[in-house]
Amino acid sequence: MSSSNHFLHLHFFCFFFTSSVLHFSSSQLQNNITSFSFSNSPWRPTQNQILLSLDSTFAAGFLPLPNAPALYTFSVWYHNISSKDVVWSANRLDPVSAAASLLISRSGELRLVNSSVNGRNLWPSPAVGSVNGSGLSLLSTGNLVYGDFQSFAIPTDTILPNQRINGTTLVSKNGKFMFDSRELFLVSRNDSYWSNLGNLIFVSLDSKGVVMYGDNSRYYASDFGVEKLRRLSLDDDGNLRLYSYDTRLSQWVVGWQAVFQLCLIHGTCGANSICMYDVSSLSTSCVCPPGYRRAVNNSCELRIPVKDLGRSKFLRLDFVMFTGGLNQSDIKTSNFTTCEAQCRSDPSCLGFMFKYDGSNYCVLQLERMVDGYWSPGTETVMFLRVDESEAEVSNFTGMTNLMETACPVKIRLPLPPEESKTITRNVVIICTIFAAELLSGVFFFWTFLKKYIKYRDMARTFGLEVMPAGGPKRFTYAELKDATNNFSNPIGKGGFGVVYMGKLNDGRVVAVKSLKNITGGDADFWAEVTIIARMHHLNLVRLWGFCAEKGSRILVYEYVPNGSLDEFLFQNVEVESLEMEQETAVVVGSKNKPILDWNIRYRIALGVARAIAYLHEECLEWVLHCDIKPENILLGDDFCPKVSDFGLAKLKKKEDMISVSRMRGTPGYMAPEWTRPDQITSKADVYSYGLVLLEIVSGSRNFTQLDSKVASDQWFFPRWAFDKVFKEMNVEDVLDPRIMHNYDSRAHFDMINRMVKTAMWCLQDRPEMRPSMGKVAKMLEGTIEITEPKKPTIFFLED
Ligand SMILES: *[C@@H]1O[C@H](CO)[C@@H](O)[C@H](O)[C@H]1NC(C)=O
Ligand SMILES: *[C@@H]1O[C@H](CO)[C@@H](O)[C@H](O)[C@H]1NC(C)=O
Ligand SMILES: *[C@@H]1O[C@H](CO)[C@@H](O)[C@H](O)[C@H]1NC(C)=O
Ligand SMILES: *[C@@H]1O[C@H](CO)[C@@H](O)[C@H](O)[C@H]1NC(C)=O
Ligand SMILES: *[C@@H]1O[C@H](CO)[C@@H](O)[C@H](O)[C@H]1NC(C)=O
Ligand SMILES: *[C@@H]1O[C@H](CO)[C@@H](O)[C@H](O)[C@H]1NC(C)=O
Ligand SMILES: *[C@@H]1O[C@H](CO)[C@@H](O)[C@H](O)[C@H]1NC(C)=O
Ligand SMILES: *[C@@H]1O[C@H](CO)[C@@H](O)[C@H](O)[C@H]1NC(C)=O
Ligand SMILES: *[C@@H]1O[C@H](CO)[C@@H](O)[C@H](O)[C@H]1NC(C)=O
Ligand SMILES: *[C@@H]1O[C@H](CO)[C@@H](O)[C@H](O)[C@H]1NC(C)=O
Repeated sequence: MSSSNHFLHLHFFCFFFTSSVLHFSSSQLQNNITSFSFSNSPWRPTQNQILLSLDSTFAAGFLPLPNAPALYTFSVWYHNISSKDVVWSANRLDPVSAAASLLISRSGELRLVNSSVNGRNLWPSPAVGSVNGSGLSLLSTGNLVYGDFQSFAIPTDTILPNQRINGTTLVSKNGKFMFDSRELFLVSRNDSYWSNLGNLIFVSLDSKGVVMYGDNSRYYASDFGVEKLRRLSLDDDGNLRLYSYDTRLSQWVVGWQAVFQLCLIHGTCGANSICMYDVSSLSTSCVCPPGYRRAVNNSCELRIPVKDLGRSKFLRLDFVMFTGGLNQSDIKTSNFTTCEAQCRSDPSCLGFMFKYDGSNYCVLQLERMVDGYWSPGTETVMFLRVDESEAEVSNFTGMTNLMETACPVKIRLPLPPEESKTITRNVVIICTIFAAELLSGVFFFWTFLKKYIKYRDMARTFGLEVMPAGGPKRFTYAELKDATNNFSNPIGKGGFGVVYMGKLNDGRVVAVKSLKNITGGDADFWAEVTIIARMHHLNLVRLWGFCAEKGSRILVYEYVPNGSLDEFLFQNVEVESLEMEQETAVVVGSKNKPILDWNIRYRIALGVARAIAYLHEECLEWVLHCDIKPENILLGDDFCPKVSDFGLAKLKKKEDMISVSRMRGTPGYMAPEWTRPDQITSKADVYSYGLVLLEIVSGSRNFTQLDSKVASDQWFFPRWAFDKVFKEMNVEDVLDPRIMHNYDSRAHFDMINRMVKTAMWCLQDRPEMRPSMGKVAKMLEGTIEITEPKKPTIFFLED
């Protein structure tokens, strides 16, 4: 599949969160005890006394509430790190006053009382020991023990290493969310929004970052293997995160989290509200849909109530989905008219969701709409019922554009030069027809989409058949040996291993990638593969299954027939000979691939941008691609681009990752920050994409000189192209000379201009200057205006 050298595959899976756990300043003169017994009783909040574990890692005592310093909880916290985070509290929901006390009664009962000694015992579960016994003490694991009582048995929002998770329940500090060792719930609605794959139970974690599951499988944190302070916490935003303490940064770092797309956490926004997830700030915001205005509790209400159902209309919200609510009614039809009519005739129907992909997805929203969110990954359109007089228009758009530029539209290539004028005319005609279809509304739109739908439908059923809820299929080694005829037909070799062509029993042709030098055990591999297999996008190569047997690590992908983009872009063939080939229209040979025309190049650029945006936005940094280059962009039947090798970087052994020093002199497709100690973010992918984008336009590698136009030792195509586009206003000079004759300024100028200008933004030296991948896709689509960026600097690694 991919052929040239892969440069770097780093683990940078940890992104940094400052934890939401409370902090407090330690006081000056403390009385440190290691055991609290009858003779120490009572212990008052004002006493400034702490109970230390033997190794001083943990401490316990009365802590004032951060927002109400006169009220206290009896808590356990990390004592030996600067952020003294609370890991357990006895009376989280019942804070006590300064007059309170903790005491051991004559009968040996541990009591926490507010003021009167005979008041209600606020200690969370019965704790009886012997008066002359060892007293209340704190083990070095953080477990607070007295008699039969142990705090590990009744966790609050945090689990510590070697604490049993199963059989216990975590509740977030704000009380909104719950984790029962299997699923995450929104407490107020008893509504589950996440469960582990295969519905596995968490059993325990250890200080090396290994999480044990109920079926004895394991999951490894991204930094596993090193003894660290670790904790699993249910945070106030409803996400479950596994943290480890980085002593160098003096902060907690996330090594795993349950939910990537934070908008999928139920209860994030109120009723009728739409959650938007901002990848760059890792934060969510709640917006009201058109026709609605903000109401109490982050919810939204109709601006104009629909009184007469006959006088209502539907506003269209692309990529919006409402996931929650018990009263969603699934009609199962792929006929838009039917779906709409069902909602229209139901007085309790507030709107409906529809998918144009022929998957029979038509869900009516009855009575209430909760847990709405916006994400292109949903491929759903929400139609919202509003009063006919509602004048507001929907700004949730983009689906039309997606359909219009989606792959399955067949394009002939290459085009003989003399047809150029007719092509232009055709383009104009097609555009006009398309515009007319749009004007006549969604019903015509539907017909237009049929072709698209058929294709999608096929892909879907194919995918679903082999990908049941359980995840990717596990193949046996024998099955794959059989399918590939004993691995006899290699079709490519990349940084991760050799790729073989194969045919499964059910007739599907597959690409079988045998990985080498892969880290971790079976469960680790399985966990990663399941994440990769969940990535589901038209422009991503589909992972169908895997094999982990006899030390082998094999991935089974869909077979993409047309090879990789580099074979098409960079051909060392003279222009003259190509002119001759064009008489036979399409010549496909091992060396002489057809020249891709502008429309195809544009679609490839857009498809790849969308795929990467999907990876970044849906899956977060977890699957930064890290290795975007023409070799990793495969072309399907109809030249539909499919990005391959995503998500594999994490599987790579650490020793195998090439050190920075080897990058010298071959800048390749890597962003400048790889050479600096900076954190690598999704913007590194944006940079690589920018380089690929320019190559798609120019048809040559950025670091090889175009003919002899300019002679310089420090040739860097992007800089030169920048001047051409922004200073000389001469986009034509940047184009691949092999298809210059097909260039029609009226038809193509805008497209190419956008591609080059977008590339310039992607190639900004400073990561924060580069747009997000989602924005890049919008720039290419032409839905947002592109201003002039700074000139890209040369990124050379010199001695
Ligand atoms: C108790 O421990 C703290 C910090 O560990 C230390 O600063 C303090 O001096 C100790 N107090 C006594 C009385 O040992
Ligand atoms: C805190 O104590 C634990 C356990 O003894 C140790 O592993 C860790 O390095 C200590 N951390 C700091 C910041 O001293
Ligand atoms: C304890 O007493 C204080 C002050 O009287 C009061 O504010 C607080 O709510 C009481 N806590 C409990 C758990 O009763
Ligand atoms: C505790 O010790 C005292 C004397 O030190 C003794 O009188 C008493 O009986 C003991 N109590 C129990 C429950 O063992
Ligand atoms: C939550 O719902 C489940 C079924 O979905 C039920 O078994 C459970 O008892 C409910 N819990 C509460 C607290 O209502
Ligand atoms: C859960 O924990 C209990 C002990 O608390 C143990 O007996 C049980 O086997 C555990 N369940 C699983 C699935 O490991
Ligand atoms: C708003 O939220 C508060 C607390 O969460 C709740 O008591 C109140 O009923 C809510 N108001 C409405 C109108 O839902
Ligand atoms: C769902 O809607 C139907 C029809 O509107 C209604 O009869 C039913 O009670 C609703 N169910 C819930 C759980 O709200
Ligand atoms: C949808 O269904 C209606 C009636 O059920 C039918 O008249 C119409 O032709 C169908 N539309 C499509 C596109 O199949
Ligand atoms: C629509 O407009 C609202 C309000 O200006 C804004 O918050 C929201 O992000 C917009 N939606 C989209 C999809 O751009």
